[in-house]
Amino acid sequence: MSTLLLKDITKSYLKTPVLQDINLDIKEGEFVVIVGASGCGKSTLLRTIAGLESASSGAIYIDNQDVTNKEPKDRDIAMVFQNYALYPHMKVYDNIAYGLKVRKRPKAEIKERVNKIATLLQIDHLLDRKPNALSGGQRQRVAMGRAIIRNPKLFLFDEPLSNLDAKLRVDMRLEIKRLQQQLKITSLYVTHDQVEAMTMADRIVILNKGYIEQFDTPKMLYQKPASVFVAGFIGAPSMNFINAKTTDNGICLEDGGELDIVLEDNHDAGKDIIIGIRPEHLQLSEQKNDVDITVTVDTIEHLGAETLLYGFIPSSQTRITMKINGYWSGSVGETIHLHARKEHLHAFDPDTKKRIDLNRHIHYA
Ligand SMILES: Nc1ncnc2c1ncn2[C@@H]1O[C@H](COP(=O)(O)OP(=O)(O)O)[C@@H](O)[C@H]1O
Ligand SMILES: [Mg+2]
Repeated sequence: MSTLLLKDITKSYLKTPVLQDINLDIKEGEFVVIVGASGCGKSTLLRTIAGLESASSGAIYIDNQDVTNKEPKDRDIAMVFQNYALYPHMKVYDNIAYGLKVRKRPKAEIKERVNKIATLLQIDHLLDRKPNALSGGQRQRVAMGRAIIRNPKLFLFDEPLSNLDAKLRVDMRLEIKRLQQQLKITSLYVTHDQVEAMTMADRIVILNKGYIEQFDTPKMLYQKPASVFVAGFIGAPSMNFINAKTTDNGICLEDGGELDIVLEDNHDAGKDIIIGIRPEHLQLSEQKNDVDITVTVDTIEHLGAETLLYGFIPSSQTRITMKINGYWSGSVGETIHLHARKEHLHAFDPDTKKRIDLNRHIHYA
C-alpha cells in the first residue's frame, strides 16, 4: 500500500514555476527527507501536500484516496515547523492535549495519551510549565508531542531543528529518527542540511529549482549520483570535478598531462567528459594505478583524525580537494601524486550533466 503518492505536481506563483514534474511514491512507514538549497521549493511542496497551498496541476493521494481538493483538516496530516508556534498561555499539558480537546475526546483518554507521549518524549516532568519556561530542545519536543498525539497518517516536518544549536541538533536528530521507527509513521522531512538528510532518511529527494534531481537511498546517492548537481551536493568536502577527454586507451586532461586514467577498450574516443572523484577516494602513492593525478598543494587543514589537502592540477589549474587519513607531514607548494581506484570514479556528460556509466563503457547518446 502506498501511503503518499504525488502525480505530476506543479505549482506556480503568478506564472513563475516553483515546483515542476513532481512524482513521488512514499511507502508506508518510510522516512523520506527532502533536501535542497534555500528557495528550491521544499516548503512549498510540504505545504501543498498538507493542503495549505493548492497545486497548480497534478494529484495527491494518501492511502489511495485522492485528497487533492480536500481541506487540510481532512487529510489526516500533522506538521511540525521550524517555528514550532506553541500556545504561550497554555501549559505543556494543554499544548499537547489541544488536538484531542478540539476533537472533543473524553478527558480520561486525553490524560492517558498525553502522559504516554510525554513519557516517550521525556518531558513528563515539564507538563505544568508554560513554553517560555522551556529550553529550545524541550519546546521542540512539545511540538512533536502535539503532532504525534493525533496519530496522523502522515507526518510533515519543515526544518524542525534549524533553530537549535549544533549539539542539540545532533541529539534531536537521533531522537526523531528513534521516535519515527518506534511509531512507524510515514514521514516527510525537509532540511537544507545534507548530513541530516544522509543520517535520517530511508530515501532522499534531492530538489533543485523545483525539480527532483534524484530520489534514492543515501547509499545510492553517494555511490551513483545521477547528475553533477547531486554528486556535488552529497558528500563533504564536495566531489572534485575535472574536465577531461576520452582517448583510445582511457581518459586524460585536454593537453594530456597530469591525469591518466586507463580504461578497457570499447568506448568513444575524442569526447569531452567530466570526471568526478571524491576527496576521500584520492590516496597518496608512489606507484601508478588505474587513476593517477598530479596536484600541487596550496592549503593544508589538519583535523586530527584526517587531513584535508587543497591544491590544483598544474597545467589546467583545476582545483582538487583530498582527504587523507591521519597527519600529513608534507608542506605547501609540494607536488604530489594521487591515485584512485577505477570503481571510485564518476563520469558525467558535459552537455546534459547526467551520469555516464564508466563500468559499462562510455558511449554517448
Ligand atoms: N506565497 C508566495 N508567493 C510568491 N512566491 C512564493 C511564495 N511562497 C514561496 N514563493 C517562492 O517560491 C520559491 C520556493 O520557496 P520555498 O518553497 O519557501 O523554498 P524553500 O523552502 O526550499 O526554501 C521561492 O523562490 C519563493 O520566493
Ligand atoms: Mg523552507
